[in-house]
Amino acid sequence: MGRGFALRWSPRHEVIIGSRDEARAQEAAAGYADAARAALGEAAASNITGASNAATAAGADALVLSIPYENIDAVCPAVLPSAPESCVVVSPIVPMERTGAGFEFVPFRDGKKSAHDTVAAHMRDPARLVSAFHVISEKKLADPSLPLDYDIFVCGDSDECVEAVCGLVSDIEGLRALRLGGGSLAYMAEVATPLLLNAMVRNRLKSPGIKLV
Ligand SMILES: NC(=O)c1ccc[n+]([C@@H]2O[C@H](COP(=O)([O-])OP(=O)(O)OC[C@H]3O[C@@H](n4cnc5c(N)ncnc54)[C@H](OP(=O)(O)O)[C@@H]3O)[C@@H](O)[C@H]2O)c1
Repeated sequence: MGRGFALRWSPRHEVIIGSRDEARAQEAAAGYADAARAALGEAAASNITGASNAATAAGADALVLSIPYENIDAVCPAVLPSAPESCVVVSPIVPMERTGAGFEFVPFRDGKKSAHDTVAAHMRDPARLVSAFHVISEKKLADPSLPLDYDIFVCGDSDECVEAVCGLVSDIEGLRALRLGGGSLAYMAEVATPLLLNAMVRNRLKSPGIKLV
């Protein structure tokens, strides 16, 4: 997802790619910048850099936690304390596993917390957490020449933070932000991903998205 966010936001925003390994972040960022240079020009390319997770969080207006659900408890304590109090934290994280039955939603199957609630437990101010971007495929995001026409569900407890993330959604041409409600409803946005993927596999769809009409 990091590549897709970098390519889609770099024309308008400074994007810092974080990693547990600074060298890996810089290598990934250089690759994304090359792709941005070819597709979008030098100005976009120069907006993409890489840094350690903590350094990335330190200057962030918005911090997108593009990490697996299983690693939330390991990554958050190493990253969130570095973020400024004003930072809006964004979770696109989907608690999902592929089993013999198909793609399953881990909180329903195993009685675990949603990704939103799992991240919120690590936040100084859980109201600054907003869940969004669960239902857009990285394959679609990562190619800036592909036109998008999808809705993105957005959930959070602070109007100001939800508004900021809706702005980030609409900064990506072809995406429309749809507010679903507070953080306690974020599981509904998260569960839309296994729903989409099961429909994709059973019906041979290619990277489907969601659009309410
Ligand atoms: N892929 C999609 O189309 C899609 C769509 C919607 C939502 N999502 C959600 O977005 C999140 C990111 O998805 P993704 O496909 O980009 O994931 P990913 O490529 O598997 O992982 C993203 C990053 O997480 C870090 N990470 C991986 N394993 C880790 C571990 N054991 N401990 C700590 N950090 C680890 C890695 O960064 P470093 O190793 O560099 O630290 C990695 O580059 C997921 O929660 C996913 O459910 C994905």
